[in-house]
Amino acid sequence: MPKVTFIKDGKATTVEFEQGKLPYEHHGLPESFLDVAMNFGIPLEHACGGSCACTTCHLYIKEGEQNLSEPEDKELDRLDTAWDLRTNSRLGCQAVISGDVVVEFPMYTRNYVQEGGAIQLGKSDQTEDEKKAAEVRP
Ligand code: FES
Repeated sequence: MPKVTFIKDGKATTVEFEQGKLPYEHHGLPESFLDVAMNFGIPLEHACGGSCACTTCHLYIKEGEQNLSEPEDKELDRLDTAWDLRTNSRLGCQAVISGDVVVEFPMYTRNYVQEGGAIQLGKSDQTEDEKKAAEVRP
């Protein structure tokens, strides 16, 4: 039975699940971090519902990378837009767990829904002066 440890704000929570027995499979890939988190009441953001269309489920793999599915191109493409991308970054809704793993939540995730799509449109990093300069004037 894989053990999954989620570390958030320095606090670790470990859960264990029996493969093929998770009842809740409507968020992300079955037996992904998001699926496990939803089953055990661990708050892992998932603004797109686990369809690999945001980065709110971004996690850092601390241990057990060999116990995860290989990332597909769509996950890697989406990860490219994540805040503070690292070599051990994965999307919680896409990485499927087959053994013991330890993951850490990033300090921040980009949520296009709450941020009004500003980052998605490439405007979030603009200063107020840059925003004014970019305004179209009649
Ligand atoms: S929940 Fe949106 S990409 Fe994972």
